[in-house]
Amino acid sequence: MASLLKRLFALTPMTRSTSAYTFGLERVGTLPSGPVLEIGTGQGYSVAFLSRALADRQVVGIDITYECFKPERLEFGPRKPWLVQASAPYLPFASDTFALVSLVMTFHCLPEPQRVFREVFRVLKPGGVLMMADVDGQHRIAPWFERIEHLGISSLTRAYRVEEILALGKEAGFPEPQIAYRKPGGFMVWYLFRKPQEVSDGR
Ligand SMILES: C[S@@+](CC[C@H](N)C(=O)[O-])C[C@H]1O[C@@H](n2cnc3c(N)ncnc32)[C@H](O)[C@@H]1O
Repeated sequence: MASLLKRLFALTPMTRSTSAYTFGLERVGTLPSGPVLEIGTGQGYSVAFLSRALADRQVVGIDITYECFKPERLEFGPRKPWLVQASAPYLPFASDTFALVSLVMTFHCLPEPQRVFREVFRVLKPGGVLMMADVDGQHRIAPWFERIEHLGISSLTRAYRVEEILALGKEAGFPEPQIAYRKPGGFMVWYLFRKPQEVSDGR
């Protein structure tokens, strides 16, 4: 069952995800100069899309595994994305590196959620933005989503409530976490977290 679900996942084009990225990019506002980090590269449609949409920036993708990656199906922008195998709670990058971090339909399956937020805060440049979209843990289908994921995609999956996500962001140092969009009755929630220009020592 588990391997069947994984194979189905690998075959499904993530077209809905790339529309989620378009939607997020329309809302991020002004960004500092610098590269973009995509956490949870998956099949690669997301990094390919970002490399076309943000053609003047270097896109870096990380994933814990590249078994679903489909380079032969991807159309990259002028700068080919750099791919790194790494786990989100332990980002192998220097502090204050990225202008934008995207975390689209990935946070629910990551370990150490608090550490992930702290790491994203650390690697963002001052003024940089975390653009995030994920499922709403309070939605009526959230328990079913979790069950299906536990069956074959990831035993770690947890559908977080909006309040939990906002609190994790605040604890990590983002002063004003924002819900960028939440359709009434919808299952997806979009968030924006901007790192302040100046970070006080006692954040
Ligand atoms: C549902 S896919 C999302 C892919 C992509 N963001 C999209 O929307 O098309 C989640 C991805 O997160 C990756 N992932 C799971 N645990 C991870 C971890 N600890 N660190 C980095 N990536 C991880 C999985 O391998 C998978 O490719």
